[in-house]
Amino acid sequence: MVDNKWKAAGFVTEKVPEGTDMKAEIRKMCKEKNAVIMAHYYTQGEIQDIADFVGDSLALAQQAAKTDADIIVMCGVHFMGETNKILCPDKKVLVPDLNATCSLAESCPAKEFGEFVKAHPDHTVISYVNTTAAIKALTDVVVTSGNALKIVNSLPKEEKIIFGPDRNLGNYINSLTGRNMLLWDGACHVHEKFSLERILELKAEHPQAKILVHPECKGPIVKVADKVGSTAALLKFSQEDEATEFIVATESGILHKMQQACPNKTFIPAPPNDSTCACNECNFMKLITMEKLYNCLKYEWPEIKVNKSVAEKAVKSINRMLEMSK
Ligand code: 13P
Ligand code: SF4
Repeated sequence: MVDNKWKAAGFVTEKVPEGTDMKAEIRKMCKEKNAVIMAHYYTQGEIQDIADFVGDSLALAQQAAKTDADIIVMCGVHFMGETNKILCPDKKVLVPDLNATCSLAESCPAKEFGEFVKAHPDHTVISYVNTTAAIKALTDVVVTSGNALKIVNSLPKEEKIIFGPDRNLGNYINSLTGRNMLLWDGACHVHEKFSLERILELKAEHPQAKILVHPECKGPIVKVADKVGSTAALLKFSQEDEATEFIVATESGILHKMQQACPNKTFIPAPPNDSTCACNECNFMKLITMEKLYNCLKYEWPEIKVNKSVAEKAVKSINRMLEMSK
């Protein structure tokens, strides 16, 4: 029975009894309920550590498409839960806190984006995975930061393209491909806040350090990068490159896996332009806590629902991405 207090809060507000071994209980519930826990690299370290699968947004979608679990607990933000539900309509998809939204997805309202698409009927619509199901339903092919370049490159040079919602990723792809995709003017509040000046100061203090940058960052930051890529690509680079120091310009949760994989290397989170706040943290991702994960598995709530006709359209653009990124 879902309590009205929970509905108002967006998560199960019940306190976990003192002395509960949450890790053991979470694993036990997963076994009993045939549930799988997926987590994005930006979630808290202990959430990543208890998950069955940790990945970037592309890997999480690929993993959801092939899981045989009955329940998927998506420790990440709402659009990731929606993507899983669209790919697995018969499974129960849970996100431990419904307040875990995404500023980038929210920068692209369906009504306005629909009008933009209508105004350019001869354009192919490419949308970044950080969008609501309604936007995916208006889209021809979804991309992630891990496959956007490959997918755009696979389309004929003369094809007219609308790219949304991230203007920084769109500009980056335009610069690499020489295309002139029409961009939606959206952005992520975390990646927009990195300070070039402070990154260059750090680089002066650590001249041997390589700069790792997510393509959701602004152009001038992308320009000083030694490696630009998705979270998974940056993680891989940090493991394979001979450098032992890295300045990391993406959400700081990724440092958890980087440091675990390479305990002898040094990872320095790139500072935001406001030194008084932890702006290099995604406040939405950090809403997912062990207590909420425990309660969400226990009560199988909050569950993600997607309108059937929206899901039927959205699944085509997601499947097209999965096909094209093979
Ligand atoms: P990745 O595609 O690198 O996982 O990043 C997407 C993102 O911003 C998730 O918030
Ligand atoms: Fe969205 Fe930015 Fe948070 Fe990623 S880091 S989930 S793009 S708000």
